[in-house]
This record gives sequence, C-alpha cells and structure tokens, in this order.
Amino acid sequence: MLKLAVLVSGGGTNLQAIMDCINNGKITNAQIQVVISNKEEAFGLERARKAGIPARCISPKSYEKREDFNGALLGEIQSHDIDLVVLAGYLVILPEILVQEYQNRIINIHPSLLPSFGGVGCYGLKVHEKVLERGCKVTGATVHFVDEGTDTGPIILQKSVEVLDNDTPQTLQQRVMEEAEWNILPKSIDFIANGKIVVEKNKVRRI
Ligand code: GRF
Repeated sequence: MLKLAVLVSGGGTNLQAIMDCINNGKITNAQIQVVISNKEEAFGLERARKAGIPARCISPKSYEKREDFNGALLGEIQSHDIDLVVLAGYLVILPEILVQEYQNRIINIHPSLLPSFGGVGCYGLKVHEKVLERGCKVTGATVHFVDEGTDTGPIILQKSVEVLDNDTPQTLQQRVMEEAEWNILPKSIDFIANGKIVVEKNKVRRI
C-alpha cells in the first residue's frame, strides 16, 4: 500500500480528485495518510477533515528560522512513514533536504505542457495568462517528479487541452483542471502505486 502525503495551498480540487479516485477504485494500492498545507485557511485542509484524513497546517510564517520550518515539514512527512509526496497546488519552495530524502518520490502537477510555461514565478493563473498572451492554440497539464529545479524533473504524464478564442485565464484554468489535472494526477499515482513506471536516465518509462 503506497502511503501518500498530499501538500496543498488552495482549494484542493486536485486533492479531491485523488480522494475520489481512491474511493471509486481508479487508484488502487494507495492511501492518503496526511494532508499538509502552508495556509490554515486552505480549503484543501477542510476537504481532508471531512474525509477523516489527518490535516496539518505547517507554515513558514510560524517559524523564526526557515530551517525550523524545513525540519517541521520533513518531520511530519517522516512521522507518517510516507512513500510518495504529492504536491497538489502547493506553492511553497520545498526544503532541499526533503527533495534529497525523497528523490523520485515527490510528484507535482503543473498547469501547462512543460517545459513550456514552467519555471520560477510561473504558477497558478499566471500560467494561463501567459498562454493566452502568447496566442497558443493548445495547452494542458503535466505531472512530473520533483528534482532540485523548478518544474524540471522527469515527466510522468501530460494531457493537452484546446485553447478557445473566447477563453479568459479563469475559463482556461478551469478547463485545464477538469480535462487534464484531475485526470493525470490520479493516473500518475495509480501508475506509481502499481509499479507501472520506472525512471531511467532521468526519463520515465512505462513497464
Ligand atoms: C491549479 O491550477 C493547479 O494546477 C495548481 O494550483 C491550482 C489550484 O489547484 N498547481 P487546487 O484546486 O488547489 O488543487
């Protein structure tokens, strides 16, 4: 059974997609042990509590020193004997120590077809604003392993979404979530939970 820690900063719709897929059998051999947010008011924590899943707020603002936050976050994850950390709309820079301890055991959902529209400062609604500014006809979402960079780790799954002429950043974000994110994040977790992928030379291969 793959033990998951899901990290959120906002509405938690990707968390909800994971919970729903575990409940309806689209994800097997996996269980959410804890949901952690940097924001007490994140609705993702509320979603976890409603489902009876331990929900913790661990915020950098609650610690004088960053390394104390880093230690608290790593400690919470380790206390649940976690196999896979899932960043589901988590907007805090991960402690290096966590990325090192959990190499190829942290995954992230990004709302574009990486490497396009990724990297420092490119997250959430900003991604869709840039896609529309550029006049792209297709966008989508990417699930990737987290490495030391920003949105640079091995890509697990991607799914494309058409950009419509009358799209706003908000309508595009919603369609990318509905048609891509809520599909490929649970699918990626199921692949990992059932040993369907390997990472070789920094590339993900289906087996
Ligand atoms: C989504 O656009 C997701 O791609 C990004 O954070 C936003 C909110 O996600 N990573 P959620 O509703 O909190 O899952």
